Amino acid sequence: MPTARPPEDATTLDALRRAAASCTGCDLYKRATQTVFGEGNPHASLMLLGEQPGHEEDLAGRPFVGPAGRLLDKALVQAGLDRRQVYVTNIVKHFKWKAKEGGKRRIHEKPGRNEVEACRPWFDKEFWLVQPEVLVCLGATAAAAVFGPAARVGTSRGRELSSPQGVRAFVTVHPSAILRIPKDAERAAEMRRFVADLRRAALAARRPSRATRVSRGPATPRRGPSRAPSRD
Ligand code: URA
Repeated sequence: MPTARPPEDATTLDALRRAAASCTGCDLYKRATQTVFGEGNPHASLMLLGEQPGHEEDLAGRPFVGPAGRLLDKALVQAGLDRRQVYVTNIVKHFKWKAKEGGKRRIHEKPGRNEVEACRPWFDKEFWLVQPEVLVCLGATAAAAVFGPAARVGTSRGRELSSPQGVRAFVTVHPSAILRIPKDAERAAEMRRFVADLRRAALAARRPSRATRVSRGPATPRRGPSRAPSRD
């Protein structure tokens, strides 16, 4: 199976982002507008991991800027977080879509396991460079990518977990799942649960842990303000 190959000398997020722009590690690049790399605080203590860019992200070249992103932004604020202080990325970095309505609309198509695996090296290196204290998996694809195919949002949600990278992790719903709930009251209730999940993760990120250094490389000292914001 072809996979992405981040260059060894890409030792900063900017260098990694530039390298990812020409990724041909799977076929998704052929129909996507561009690679959508992660963004945010390069020293964030909290990293949010989504599935793949959507239509608007594909055009803008930035993660979570469409409807799901706007809901995520709102939830982050309600959880006492500022998006600029966290790092937001996706496990798959090209938009996978199918045509709808005579080819006029591009509809999200769930990435397959092969595409997740092909793209994984970018996330691995991104994760290693940011070295977050806490990882939040947004939805089933991100959860399965981190914890394996048996991971389930329903059973993993609400608890602090330990990720294979050796950091504290949380699994919650994908914001687009909240948008799809038709009834206002149910959608509002799910939004409250989502905010509570993010708040839990924010609190964990404020709690420093000696045991959370990633094991794939030497621990590097964190530079600059890197913690999730104080909610006091
Ligand atoms: N859904 C995702 O998982 N990521 C995005 O960037 C946008 C929508």
